[in-house]
Amino acid sequence: MAPTTVESPRAPTVGHTTASHEPDTTSNSNPAFYATNRYKLDSLPLELAPAKDLTLDRKISAASRLAANGTIRDLLTNHGAVHFKGLGLKSAEEFSRFAQSFGWRPHEDIGNPVRRTVLAYNVATANEGPNTQPVYPHNEFGLSPHYPAYVFFYCLSAPETGGETPVNNSITLYDKLKQQVPDFIKVVEEKGVRYQLFYRNRPRSDISSPGTSLLQSYGINVLDSDDTETARSKIEDEIRRLPTATWQWENQSPDNKLGDLRVFQRLPAVRRHEQTGKQAFFNNVISRYLNAKTAGTLDPPYLNKDGDYQPPALYADDTPIPHEYLEAAVQIVNDTRSLVLWNTGDVLLIDNHAVQHGREPWTGDRKLLASLWDEPSVGVQKS
Ligand SMILES: [Fe+2]
Repeated sequence: MAPTTVESPRAPTVGHTTASHEPDTTSNSNPAFYATNRYKLDSLPLELAPAKDLTLDRKISAASRLAANGTIRDLLTNHGAVHFKGLGLKSAEEFSRFAQSFGWRPHEDIGNPVRRTVLAYNVATANEGPNTQPVYPHNEFGLSPHYPAYVFFYCLSAPETGGETPVNNSITLYDKLKQQVPDFIKVVEEKGVRYQLFYRNRPRSDISSPGTSLLQSYGINVLDSDDTETARSKIEDEIRRLPTATWQWENQSPDNKLGDLRVFQRLPAVRRHEQTGKQAFFNNVISRYLNAKTAGTLDPPYLNKDGDYQPPALYADDTPIPHEYLEAAVQIVNDTRSLVLWNTGDVLLIDNHAVQHGREPWTGDRKLLASLWDEPSVGVQKS
């Protein structure tokens, strides 16, 4: 298929064949982005390439226009994700400028269990390792009531082999689960699901694991001079910003006066996608299941080789989700996913509610940065 312009305020889809959806090329003779020849009507993701010799400023201003005139939102509604291929961004700073140009509101992490190192405005490292371990399919912050609408990934350095980002459509996943295992969807829609997250009380500066510590996640207002009661109170105020959370303190001792923290989230596993009105299997159930399967902790008492409690996601009434249902979900993901191959300088934009993502193992020096955004109207209560 010949390249098709999307540099048009009237182009709700790219390459659509019906007259009413034909891209309008009359208003702009120098389009900035083209759909690549891998385009299909329902491609996930849609691949867009910039016009030859486009300057960074032109790429940024073109992206800004496409976002402002609704084209980007329409493309995401039709495709779920857009892969800006051959974009050639050279640094975290350039990526930040590109992401900002879409006009969304920076997403604030609350209680993030994964460390991100900030490298530029609203740009941080993605979950980077270890390189032999896949990241299983999930919606970003699907285990929280506070999650970003949009996720950008940027390839600062491409892997030698592997390291693809798998993406699968959450709405398709819901539809297929409803067909194949209707009993599961019925029950999970009624009950919801429960996650647990464990935060150790380690020094704020600790970076010994890719997970975050108690103070890194919830201790933003805690001062070194705070006594235990004050520190806990500040931490609990921060947790309360996520209204569905409950928590318990554990492992208090003379050496660990504050204690470690275990947070539980009880949430719907199915949430309505705003732009399409369709139901999406939006959650971290599959990733939790596959992590527990890998760790050998699918069944009670859910203890891993280090003795840590690592259950899969459970129904919200704390009863187990039958494994056969989760295996059906895994199979659907594997049958419907696409693998995004990375070249240095590329960007992937994901409609987080509609699309799950993961990470394949890799070799070489793979560096992916992330930038998370909300719809401008979305806010969260400040502590
Ligand atoms: Fe993620």
